[in-house]
Amino acid sequence: LNDVDGAAQPGRSSSCATDVAVRRAVAADASTVAVLSGQFGYPATGEAIGRRLAAIIDDPDATVLVAQARDGAVVGWVHVRTLQLLQRDACAEICGLVVEEAWRYRGIGGQLMAAAEDWARRQGMSLLRLRSNVVRNDAHAFYRRLGYAGSKTSVLFTKTL
Ligand SMILES: CC(C)(COP(=O)(O)OP(=O)(O)OC[C@H]1O[C@@H](n2cnc3c(N)ncnc32)[C@H](O)[C@@H]1OP(=O)(O)O)[C@@H](O)C(=O)NCCC(=O)NCCS
Repeated sequence: LNDVDGAAQPGRSSSCATDVAVRRAVAADASTVAVLSGQFGYPATGEAIGRRLAAIIDDPDATVLVAQARDGAVVGWVHVRTLQLLQRDACAEICGLVVEEAWRYRGIGGQLMAAAEDWARRQGMSLLRLRSNVVRNDAHAFYRRLGYAGSKTSVLFTKTL
């Protein structure tokens, strides 16, 4: 399979040993994206993911990209968006990333991140950032391997409205 609509450039992920294509998510991906969301630590129904995915697909400032195996199975997704801020120039942010448990360590996460970086560059962004829970040591090693450096630790405050 080839990468779809320029979402990723073949060969960007040197560790890629698996033949997967990266393409934009479509509504029909919702149920698989929901299963993977559970593996990410955010269980959700296909219906809920379908609703959220529809909103993101309609949002010109964000995209969800999926990794699709040769047999058509969706084995990973990444959600990336641009952020217009006052205190610094606009940048891109990874909002979520997960690879199907049985497909990890085959370069797919790296391939999804390369595709997200390409998308961000095409939006004119020169910086991509992400937040990762302090307990996700495995993911931190993955991001460092891809060239990301940890910069600061923050506290997430929430309030039910
Ligand atoms: C993090 C995650 C997306 C990585 O996906 P993956 O497909 O296994 O990653 P890749 O195979 O592309 O790995 C790319 C590089 O990172 C390294 N890496 C991946 N997982 C790693 C880990 N747990 N510890 C150390 N290094 C790791 C790989 O060895 C590889 O390095 P290499 O090029 O030298 O071989 C996947 O483990 C996952 O879905 N985790 C659960 C959800 C999660 O934590 N998401 C991130 C939330 S912020």
